[in-house]
Amino acid sequence: MNSIYLDNAATSFPKPPAVAAAMTRYLTDVGASVNRGVYASAQDAGMTTLLLRESLCRLFRHGDPTHCILTSGNTMGLNMVLRGWLRPGDHCLTSSMEHNAVMRPLQDLAEQGVSFDRIPCDRDGRLDPADILPLLRPNTRLVALAHASNVGGAIQDIPAAAKICREHSVPLLLDAAQTAGHWEIDFEGWGLAALSVPGHKGLMGPSGMGALLLSPEFAKNLRPIITGGTGSASDSEHQPAYMPDRFESGTPNLPGIYGLQAAIEFILETGVETLRRREEALTAQFLNGLRDIPHIRLAGPWGLENRAGVISVDFLEQDNAEAAFRLEQDYGILTRCGLHCAPSAHKSLGTFPQGTVRFSPGWFTSSEEITSAVAAVREIAAGAALHS
Ligand SMILES: Cc1ncc(COP(=O)(O)O)c(C=O)c1O
Repeated sequence: MNSIYLDNAATSFPKPPAVAAAMTRYLTDVGASVNRGVYASAQDAGMTTLLLRESLCRLFRHGDPTHCILTSGNTMGLNMVLRGWLRPGDHCLTSSMEHNAVMRPLQDLAEQGVSFDRIPCDRDGRLDPADILPLLRPNTRLVALAHASNVGGAIQDIPAAAKICREHSVPLLLDAAQTAGHWEIDFEGWGLAALSVPGHKGLMGPSGMGALLLSPEFAKNLRPIITGGTGSASDSEHQPAYMPDRFESGTPNLPGIYGLQAAIEFILETGVETLRRREEALTAQFLNGLRDIPHIRLAGPWGLENRAGVISVDFLEQDNAEAAFRLEQDYGILTRCGLHCAPSAHKSLGTFPQGTVRFSPGWFTSSEEITSAVAAVREIAAGAALHS
């Protein structure tokens, strides 16, 4: 039985072949570190690192590659902003749909005197940007929002939220874990202060890589949470103030940098809009197939507008973990069940504590695979109802 990979919201698979080729080239032919040597292979590493910053800036419409920090992943980027920006006495606003990559740092910070509130979202997981206003306080120093929910797929109206933040001089941190690579993100047009992305989901690169893009104004007052060797200003025991060295200490993940650069070249060549349209077509097919299946409930919006390809199903007559197990054992369909590191989002969607079975197609998913997945959901739901 061939397996059908429908867990792209966790990590995309497979990757464009150029990704492994670039990583292999680094490991077999380059091997040098960056910022730490002047020989040809070190120049190759330095050039690829620079190209990656430029590609990320092009993709997310940011004009200054020095303010594109390469991170070990999205969780790191989010922590760098939350922990580097918020101080005791500060207030942060977030939504009720956030991932634990935001909620756990905020809970830690709450023990150190930072307070936070959750902007409530509706049963589809959508936020009304106007609800930000009454929750702003004089000491609100940050608004942190996920672009799309990793549970139900609803995409927030970030341009409207960012406008309100700008009008009240509160920086906005955007967690684009579920949209980076396949949805338009306009860093400068929207006026974001910080954008954190993982390299291994929609960007189709390897895990262990991510990026944090900062506005120059925000970067100036953001404190690095990690300091150390940068290969620059080595005469000083103080962290360099200039970008991106201020936020990039230690030898970076160079195989990851080569892989991610190849992945982003693939995305730029394919086109974000083409990627988005494909995701929309697969999502439409999946949702149409689910519509008349009894004994299940969709957690998240049925409509396609402003919706990512994250499809969460609650099997009403059986345990969702049992359904996910059967999907794999009997049909070879790989999904993720449970609470998806987002208990608050499941509470908003009414699927706490049972969670859901999450299906997430990717660029390499075929229409036939979606047909098979819908048929499997139908059979599993019907079988469980028969035995209940
Ligand atoms: C919305 C959201 N935020 C943050 C993260 C954390 O990303 P990573 O595990 O790549 O660091 C994820 C991962 O699933 C996510 O979906």
